[in-house]
Amino acid sequence: MNGIRIEGLCKDYRLGRTVVRALKSVDLEIKSNSFVCVAGPSGSGKTTLLNMIGLIDTPTSGSVRVGGTDIQALSERLRTRYRNRTLGFIFQTFNLLPVLSVYENIHLPLILHRELSKQEKHARVMELVEAVGLDEHLRHKPFELSGGQRQRVAIARALVTHPLIVLADEPTANLDSVTGNEVLELMERINRTRGTTFLFSSHDPSIMQRAARIIRLHDGKVEAA
Ligand SMILES: Nc1ncnc2c1ncn2[C@@H]1O[C@H](COP(=O)(O)OP(=O)(O)OP(=O)(O)O)[C@@H](O)[C@H]1O
Ligand SMILES: [Mg+2]
Repeated sequence: MNGIRIEGLCKDYRLGRTVVRALKSVDLEIKSNSFVCVAGPSGSGKTTLLNMIGLIDTPTSGSVRVGGTDIQALSERLRTRYRNRTLGFIFQTFNLLPVLSVYENIHLPLILHRELSKQEKHARVMELVEAVGLDEHLRHKPFELSGGQRQRVAIARALVTHPLIVLADEPTANLDSVTGNEVLELMERINRTRGTTFLFSSHDPSIMQRAARIIRLHDGKVEAA
């Protein structure tokens, strides 16, 4: 039972004297092993929703439970643990470290995993390098890769800790449609073979339709799920 249960989630942003209500009492249940797209027009609250689940930002009210645990109630130590072990993150702009090689970028999140031996860490990185098809680029730096290859490095980095849930805010927005679809295919395969939940946002209909479920946001509310 590692599903996500969201209840009455509200987020207000204060801009001077005005308040932007980015999420207006969102209720959602996302089962484990899901492949879900959060869709909706610009400003509908997609990033805000993902940031609440990722503990990147705090809700104004309401709760997010993961595997039955209210994530807001976690201590600072457990919040770090949740971010590093339960979650993986993929970003629109890849966010790779430019001075590190492909291998080193993927290896990086394992720094906090003292329970794994050096050999186990190496094996995990190599398994993912192979899974995302970057065997021949191990020593390359991000600037030597195409956009699609960079996003595949980011996917491998997100998965190296064996997270239960991967959050991806517009993972294909900086890619052409063929490459974007290849990235989606890779995420889909990982969802199928490993049971990792993927929660990704997109504007692009050809990306959305690949999801097993589409959560449509409009003006901070769930319009259809
Ligand atoms: N840090 C912030 N401060 C103030 N207002 C914000 C902040 N972040 C988001 N908002 C507002 O909250 C609303 C929801 O924004 P959000 O970024 O979640 O939308 P989105 O669906 O991700 O849009 P896009 O498709 O453009 O990425 C918008 O009205 C936005 O202007
Ligand atoms: Mg957004």
